[in-house]
Parts: sequence; C-alpha cells; structure tokens
Amino acid sequence: MSTPIAAPDAVADRTATKRTILMCKPTFYTVSYRINPWMHPEAPTDTSKAVQQWQRLYDVYRELGYDIELIDPIEGLPDMVYAANGGFVLDGIAYGAKFQYPERQPEGPAYMDWFRGAGLEVAEPAETNEGEGDFLLVGDVILAGTGFRSDSTSHEEIARIYGREVVTLKLINPSFYHLDTAVAVLDPEPVDGVANIAYLESAFDEPSLAILRERFPDAILATEEDAAILGLNSYSDGYNVVIAARATTFAEQLRERGYNPIGVDLSELLLGGGGVKCCTLDLHPIGTGTSRRQEQR
Ligand code: ARG
Repeated sequence: MSTPIAAPDAVADRTATKRTILMCKPTFYTVSYRINPWMHPEAPTDTSKAVQQWQRLYDVYRELGYDIELIDPIEGLPDMVYAANGGFVLDGIAYGAKFQYPERQPEGPAYMDWFRGAGLEVAEPAETNEGEGDFLLVGDVILAGTGFRSDSTSHEEIARIYGREVVTLKLINPSFYHLDTAVAVLDPEPVDGVANIAYLESAFDEPSLAILRERFPDAILATEEDAAILGLNSYSDGYNVVIAARATTFAEQLRERGYNPIGVDLSELLLGGGGVKCCTLDLHPIGTGTSRRQEQR
C-alpha cells in the first residue's frame, strides 16, 4: 500500500456510510397548484411515470444498502412525495414541519404521526419550517435556509431543540426556494475533520456567501446549468452520490474528488420542483458509524 499524498480536494478513499431514510411513493402525485416557479398546473403530469422514476430511485438506494422506511401517501396531498420536507430528524428527536402554504399544511401532522409511530420523540413546531428542505446537517452544524419557505424564527427553534450550532443562509432566487435545491451535503460524516458541500453561489445573498466561502473553502461550486435541473438536489452517503442524470458537470466535479456519482432521472418529479434529495428524508439514526470502506477503483 502506498501512502497517499494529502490533497484535500482529491481524496480517493471516500467512505460510504450506512444510511437510513424515509420515502413516500408518489401514488397521488400531480401538479394541481403553483407554490414554486417550477410548477405549471395547466401542463399535464404523468403519475405512473412519476411512480416508475421514483421506484428507480428507491431501487438504487436499496442496491446501495440503505435502510428505507416508507410513509403511506395520502390522497389529496400530491407533494407528499417530497419527504425531505416532512420534518428534520436527529438524535432521536423529530422536529415537525409547519408548511408555509395551506396546500401542504396537512403533511406536517401526517409526518409527525409517522415519527411517533417510529418511536421518535416529536418536537411540535411553533415556527414555519419545511424540514430537511431547509435544514441540512453538515458535520455538527445545521445549515438553515430562509428567504422563501422556512421562517428565520425556526432557526432559533431548531437550535434550542438540538442544542447545536445553526447557520442561517438566505436564499434569493425563487427557483432555489429550499436550501436543498442550492446546497448538496457531500459528506454525511466528516472526513479528516471536514464535511464538504457543493453549492450554487448565485442562490445566496452576499453575507451568506461570505459564510459559505469561509466555512467551505473546498466546496464544489455548481454550474448554473446543473442547478437549473435541480442537479444539486442530491443525496450522498460519503462515497456514492445520487444525482440528477442530466447534471453531467456536477458528476464530473464529484468524480474528480473521488466520489461516485449515480445518475437517476426524476424528470416527472421536477415538474413539481423537486429532485433526488426532496424525495429523501435522512433519519440520521444514532450509530450510523458502521462505515464500510469502498473498494478503490
Ligand atoms: N412542490 C413542492 C413545494 O413547492 C416541492 C418541494 C421540493 N422539496 C424540497 N425538499 N426541495 O413545496
């Protein structure tokens, strides 16, 4: 075994961590209202195609060895497939979502019921927040988005609940209305003390950009082209990164850093303004430390 030369942005031996996630089959998916610029209720959607594409994502996660929990879809809640918005789960506590738009509000209690059933302690939200759409755990820190959906008062609420540092980031482009459309967490667990991300610079105001640049000097900077198909809305286990199939530059950037990008086509769910990560709620269970090192290619 040769000793690798330390090059933080070219680490070859990435480690895949075991993940436990929650998903919701898009049985009742459609676009019948417009709460983000991606949605065009006047245009047709194909629910069975959405189900097929979602199933492919599910199968990819299965092949990667993730534990996948499922919540039953509810008729009349077409956006329930975007499970990331259903809450934020960490340390055995589920911080419930309180959706901004009335169309999605019933999803909050539905997800909280599921969390209770799974034995999690539920923290009922007082403040408007859309779960992992706007809260991303990076290392020990919670990155928290605001500007379109989650209210900044929810950032204080989540900080109180978990007793962790919460970093507020302000989104400024309505097409990237949730933090997970503009930031991808690449390392669910820190590598050599650093957990890296990818992000879209133009999605943030200047103070937020300054924070991102300082905290993540080695971040991948996504292209506008990749972001425009929600390419950043991806899910990483630390080695495998499931991304939008059309995000080819992002795939290349990931490969250069030693990650293994896996493309999945969720074109039908993009019509609702969501991608890979939106369909994936990370349950961050305690004891995910059972990492297995990937074979080097
Ligand atoms: N139609 C949904 C909404 O606008 C899409 C949610 C996407 N989810 C996400 N985590 N970005 O609320």
